[in-house]
Amino acid sequence: MESRPLSEGCPSTDNTVPVGLGPPTRKANAIDVIQHIKDMQRYADRVRSDDHTMAFVPTMGFLHEGHLSLCRIGRERGDVLAASIFVNPAQFGPTEDFDTYPRNLERDLSLLEKEGVDVVFTPTEANLYPEGYQTYVNLTQLPEHLCGLSRPVFFRGVATVVIKLFHIVKPHVAVFGEKDFQQLQVIRRMVADLDMDIEIEGGPIVRESDGLAMSSRNSYLGSEQRPAALSLYRALCAAKDRVGSGETDAAKIIQEATESIGSYPDTDIDYVTVCDPITLDDISRIDDPALMALAVKVGQTRLIDNMILAPPGK
Ligand code: PAF
Repeated sequence: MESRPLSEGCPSTDNTVPVGLGPPTRKANAIDVIQHIKDMQRYADRVRSDDHTMAFVPTMGFLHEGHLSLCRIGRERGDVLAASIFVNPAQFGPTEDFDTYPRNLERDLSLLEKEGVDVVFTPTEANLYPEGYQTYVNLTQLPEHLCGLSRPVFFRGVATVVIKLFHIVKPHVAVFGEKDFQQLQVIRRMVADLDMDIEIEGGPIVRESDGLAMSSRNSYLGSEQRPAALSLYRALCAAKDRVGSGETDAAKIIQEATESIGSYPDTDIDYVTVCDPITLDDISRIDDPALMALAVKVGQTRLIDNMILAPPGK
């Protein structure tokens, strides 16, 4: 499995701050910003020894309202709210956009501070993947669907970094967006399979006023690509209406969405699927609420979106 090569970083020098000196951090206004693993673990240990609960929102930064909505959920769920910002090289394939992925740490920290986040973990690649790193987490079935087919290293990279972040931040509850529905299911499955004592909570998709699902990658889109980008949401809404009015044939629903999105010149469909929301296995008849999920390239920008299609009365 080929993933983007990890940098040959220096071994981490995390063991420099003695326990018990207060959060060993750089301060960005009122939030604590922690870069080193052991410092974050000691912070988490103090939270736990004070009998407080820790909620956690992992991110890759370049935050938008979707991330901030997850922070608001986290704020309700924990006494202490942690976030992380780390663009994880292990989840990018060699030809994907790791190098150009948008980044703006100062802006992110100021947004997180306004949301009342207490602590932000901002490791470097060398912190998380020091020289000689070779341990990865693989799920056997869920990644064989949807995005996993065209992004073969993505879920291995996500599962690996999330389990590492969980060991470092030690949350009681962690919040992930439902826009990355497959990622959410992968993490739920991993946490259950590995008996991890962490509650996983999903946060609803947040959309722009025109319906486009918020994503850090939306910043790549030109204004002329907006109609094509919006075709995903429109196709999902049309499918939802059709199933809500009694259509049960998944193939028909998929065909209609494919035709409608494909009618925009700048679109290249990766997949349009109707599947079981838990296993992500394809379904042919929609007798119960089903997940419709889409991945489409608009120009060079890969967009994903999804919606639950519920038959009448379900
Ligand atoms: O959804 C994301 O932003 C990332 O995949 C995550 C969960 C932070 C892991 O890098």
